[in-house]
Amino acid sequence: MKTVVTSSIKTAASFVKRGELVGMPTETVYGLGANVFDENAVKKIFKVKKRPPDNPLIVHVSAYEQIEQLADKITLIAEKIIRNFFPGPITIVLKKNEIISNYVTARLDTIAIRMPNLDITKRFIDACGVPIAAPSANISGSPSPTSWMHVYNDLNGKIPCILKGPKCKVGIESTVVDCTSFIPVILRPGCVSIDDLKKIFPSVKILSPVQNGIVKSPGMKYKHYSPKAKVVLVEGKEDVLKILSKYSSKNFAFIGFEKISSARKSKVVSSLNDYAHKLFAFFRYCDESGIEFIFCQKVEEKGIGLALMNRLQKAAC
Ligand code: TXA
Ligand code: MG
Repeated sequence: MKTVVTSSIKTAASFVKRGELVGMPTETVYGLGANVFDENAVKKIFKVKKRPPDNPLIVHVSAYEQIEQLADKITLIAEKIIRNFFPGPITIVLKKNEIISNYVTARLDTIAIRMPNLDITKRFIDACGVPIAAPSANISGSPSPTSWMHVYNDLNGKIPCILKGPKCKVGIESTVVDCTSFIPVILRPGCVSIDDLKKIFPSVKILSPVQNGIVKSPGMKYKHYSPKAKVVLVEGKEDVLKILSKYSSKNFAFIGFEKISSARKSKVVSSLNDYAHKLFAFFRYCDESGIEFIFCQKVEEKGIGLALMNRLQKAAC
């Protein structure tokens, strides 16, 4: 299959209308989109990504009316999140409307909904005329793509179209919040932090994805975000040098707030947001360069730091 890379929203939307998949930009990471109401198209997402069938998809909307099409009921909590954070890097989980295919929601009775905050994405969804089901556009298990080139490298020849947009500003996936009960529960930390949510909901909770044997956010149980290189979390430079004294390999990379001149590849970041923005691209770059170890500096679990540590820990396990 030939993969068309295009900046034309009209061209990309025509693929979705024909039941095909499109790699699409968002402000968090690139998604692999299909018409949510086309079951065959949704099935293709799982096949192309090699995604486990029990991992449900996020559905992307460009207007409030589309949320009403997808959810059975928009709870008060959801209303507040929509008012304060939509469009943006946050996903709400609500009871689903029964017309939604079980393939989208992996047989759960809930549906995850997000309104991306990127003009090209909004115009693309508008042009498709339907909400777009889209997981991150990587092969399952590998780091999420933060540029159209990453999507091309993973899925060239496997999907017919990539809508070319900018590099993703955020760089890690959205915060997922369960809005089905009286207090909001964070199922996956992301760019919208627990402190941001606490300003609106003082009682917001963060849930370990598996509690009492119940998996609330199925995606969180899978190994994720992993480059081929071994990821090792470190406190800082001294820690790296200590670990290196035990290994003979010089084939290592480092990402963090300090510079390590002996590293073959090194990425100095200036803030937590900058770290999040660059992390997945750096993982991919290290794999292309045949790096053996990637040392990643740990961060304080505050603000986006919580989401960053979540991704780093998953990559390291
Ligand atoms: O930023 C993002 O969220 C990106 C962009 C493309 O929007 N999407 C993304 O999708 O990261 P994906 O499929 O890689 O991750 C979706 C997460 C998974 O952890 C999945 O289990 C969870 O959302 N999820 C989806 N539907 C759910 C539901 N009904 N209940 C609980 N968790 C759900
Ligand atoms: Mg993903």
